[in-house]
Amino acid sequence: MRHVIDILDLSTDEIRSLIETAQDVIAHPGDYYGVCGGKKLATLFFEPSTRTRLSFEAAMYELGGNVLSVTGAGTSSASKGESVADTAKVVSCYADIIAMRHPKEGAALVAANNASIPVINAGDGGHCHPTQTLADLLTIRREKGRLGGLNVGLCGDLKFGRTVHSLINALSRYEDVRFVLISPEELKLPSYVKDNVLKPNGIPYSQTASLEEALPELDLLYMTRVQKERFFNEEDYLRLKDSYVLTPDKMKLAGPDMCVLHPLPRVNEISVSIDDDPRACYFKQVLNGKYMRMALILMLLRDAGTIR
Ligand code: CP
Repeated sequence: MRHVIDILDLSTDEIRSLIETAQDVIAHPGDYYGVCGGKKLATLFFEPSTRTRLSFEAAMYELGGNVLSVTGAGTSSASKGESVADTAKVVSCYADIIAMRHPKEGAALVAANNASIPVINAGDGGHCHPTQTLADLLTIRREKGRLGGLNVGLCGDLKFGRTVHSLINALSRYEDVRFVLISPEELKLPSYVKDNVLKPNGIPYSQTASLEEALPELDLLYMTRVQKERFFNEEDYLRLKDSYVLTPDKMKLAGPDMCVLHPLPRVNEISVSIDDDPRACYFKQVLNGKYMRMALILMLLRDAGTIR
């Protein structure tokens, strides 16, 4: 049974194929309605979400399928102590595919090891968020016309930001990608990402605390929220939460084609006054997430033999 727990579970060819499918869905949506008729997606979200859960559900509805949903650990038998492993076995009796978000790193893998249907990781703690990365890649492809040859700034909470970890893993496969890691000292990218991904693959990167210094050289700026829910100490969160705020004045330092992405939700790190700047692509990214999730559901259900 095929699962997607980490972006590394998808080959570069598969990512290319998913992007092609998503672009075909955008061009010919009517061809896809009904492809998943009679099939069910279970969205098991043990942590809050707006985009990921609703885009998975919209994706399945637009493919003609149905949705079973758990929202919040308190509304399921997880609150009575049921394990992730048992939950995965139970849901396999009712649904054809699972998308799961959980606060604990590794929870989606446990689900995959116990389910008899495909499991998609919709975010596990501070670890991975592969379908956000698929949304990011489609957005970059559509906005920049390529996935290689990019100078990519990653800004904010690089320590707990699971979307950043997955995106670095994905973009590191393409030619001539450079990263500028922009964060306060306390929120630097974890060493394991540098040691396991950037250094062994010879990917050039630099680290700075200054967004202003980095901006003029970037093709892409990926802003992130400081992840309040991952802090042990509220004082540290309050001190760091407004480390970076992208404003119209700062945007004047960036090139005319720089693309601003953000996985959202944003708190204060992007001023709403740049939402109308043509370089602001984060709401396009939201929509692209639905198309890539449609493509992924199709791929996994076809691989499982559930649909043709
Ligand atoms: N980007 C993202 O994961 O958003 P949600 O938390 O709203 O799903």
